Amino acid sequence: MLSFLFVTCQIGAERAVKGEVAHHWPGFRFAFSQPGFLTFKLPEPHRLPDDFDLNSVFARASGFSLGKVTNPSSEKMVDEVWGQCGEYAIQRVHVWERDRAVPGEHRYEPGLTDAAREVHQQLIACCPRPQCLARTASDWAVPAKQGELVLDCILVSPELWWVGYHRVASVASSYPGGMMSLTLPAEAVSRAWLKMEEGLRWSGLPIPRGAQVAEIGSAPGGASQAMLARGLKVTGIDPAEMAPAVLSHPSFTHIRRRSPQVRRRDFRKIRWLTADMNVAPNYTLDAIEAIVTHSEVSIRGMLLTLKLPDWQLADQVPEYLKRIQSWGYNLIRARQLLHNRREFCVAALQKPFRRKSS
Ligand SMILES: C[S@@+](CC[C@H](N)C(=O)[O-])C[C@H]1O[C@@H](n2cnc3c(N)ncnc32)[C@H](O)[C@@H]1O
Repeated sequence: MLSFLFVTCQIGAERAVKGEVAHHWPGFRFAFSQPGFLTFKLPEPHRLPDDFDLNSVFARASGFSLGKVTNPSSEKMVDEVWGQCGEYAIQRVHVWERDRAVPGEHRYEPGLTDAAREVHQQLIACCPRPQCLARTASDWAVPAKQGELVLDCILVSPELWWVGYHRVASVASSYPGGMMSLTLPAEAVSRAWLKMEEGLRWSGLPIPRGAQVAEIGSAPGGASQAMLARGLKVTGIDPAEMAPAVLSHPSFTHIRRRSPQVRRRDFRKIRWLTADMNVAPNYTLDAIEAIVTHSEVSIRGMLLTLKLPDWQLADQVPEYLKRIQSWGYNLIRARQLLHNRREFCVAALQKPFRRKSS
């Protein structure tokens, strides 16, 4: 039997995913794609473990493909999905639709849809081995646990579903389609709240309560609000105006300047840095480098948003990550988050942390 891998991603990121796969896995052959959905044929025999990590920044979710199901009746399709699973002892069921538009286009928000929830319920109700399912498997909102075996059902279109599986080995793979569904709080002053919250949860950066964080590109302040709500002390650096709700928070300080104009001593007590500037990646990296490599500044970890004004820049991602590593960050991960638009998130950590003596 031929083995295939499936990948879902943001619409527009398909070329970037293909480039990453060609780079890391030259034996994999691109097989099929629709916007936001790709499959790759694996070499035979492949011997990849079921918690295999594709090591891709732009794949939102991936897994082993079992095949497709096409049938005009969704009841029959549900039975066929379980038929594809054979003897696998499935513990969770993840169902999601491939993206329909580019994030932001026509107010489009990727995430779990009613159609996906409905199919999830049907699959749970018809599971041939319910004794294998996790106790909370019927609740689509509960993330899977590390090590659980997940049935993946991707609604490529109403009449074409793709069936696969993966074993949970990361925060992202515990959510259907790698999509951490978050609700924007009513008091959030910008959608950047979602990006920051997802970035903090995905990265698991060990930022303790009360830590001092600087955010470069902080206005109007949604991301700062997510950090303030976690009990962090935030210094926002941005020439633009912050929202009054953020400015008035007792743990928030605004430095109303561009980052090159900020005095290095203002960073002396800061151990964590985040950035979300609406500029090209090399400009963001120049600004960050000037701060973190300064002899009087000791930054232990960072969460950076790097914009891709042009999708071709996705080819440069390995170079961007190497550059960040060269500043002394030995643990680096990158991912295009659900709440990222044409941009991606980098988490960088120094472990162990060696404070510079000043
Ligand atoms: C995407 S917005 C940031 C959103 C913000 N993080 C939030 O939570 O609402 C980008 C911001 O980067 C700021 N920016 C651009 N270049 C900058 C620089 N060199 N230093 C500081 N801020 C900069 C812009 O003024 C703009 O407010």
